[in-house]
Amino acid sequence: DYTAEPFLPSGSRSGKAGLDALRRAAADCRGCPLHRDATQTVFGKGSAPARVLLLGEQPGDQEDRRGEPFVGPAGRILDDALEEAGIDPAQSYVTNAVKHFKWEYPSGGRGKRRIHKAPTLREMTACGPWLAAEVDLVRPEVLVVLGATAGKALFGSSFRVTKERGLLMEREVYGEERRIVATIHPSAVLRTDPEDREDVRNGLVSDLRVAAAALG
Ligand code: URA
Ligand code: SF4
Repeated sequence: DYTAEPFLPSGSRSGKAGLDALRRAAADCRGCPLHRDATQTVFGKGSAPARVLLLGEQPGDQEDRRGEPFVGPAGRILDDALEEAGIDPAQSYVTNAVKHFKWEYPSGGRGKRRIHKAPTLREMTACGPWLAAEVDLVRPEVLVVLGATAGKALFGSSFRVTKERGLLMEREVYGEERRIVATIHPSAVLRTDPEDREDVRNGLVSDLRVAAAALG
């Protein structure tokens, strides 16, 4: 089955390969078919260790072009929400469950517009070794799960953000007990009708405050 495993530098699960070595190796990953239609691997951003690890789904259109996570519209929502919740970006490591942009043309169309397509569980599992190695190195005090896809990547398809959001939980992540806070994906704010948008955004901020409080 698909897996990134053969592309990881040796020693990456033992912490012997640092983030830079991981990032360089991930640039050449062909562990699943998603690398074919994407511009580049979008690896995590930040240094290790970091107090908070923020886990998104996959890079979007702008992230694919620029090679960095959360630099598009969802990233602006996230940055503002983090600031309001009192989480310092300098103490955060930001990454995605899947490192290549999965997309399709709008139905019937072609041209410039590329629409995000959710990764399958198989693709998330394939990409998991990169995330496992990142979590090992970053050793976050709190891991923030941004949205259902990120939750499913870590905890399987039964994960429900609506049920688990805004709670400080202890969960096993790649063989280690970690403190977890789940919340909605920042792009959910963008998809909400303008009249309800502020409420949805406030929900994101209040979940992030739970993570901030866990840092003490
Ligand atoms: N959405 C994500 O989940 N991750 C990004 O990096 C950008 C948008
Ligand atoms: Fe490798 Fe992940 Fe990209 Fe698939 S999505 S090719 S596993 S980096």
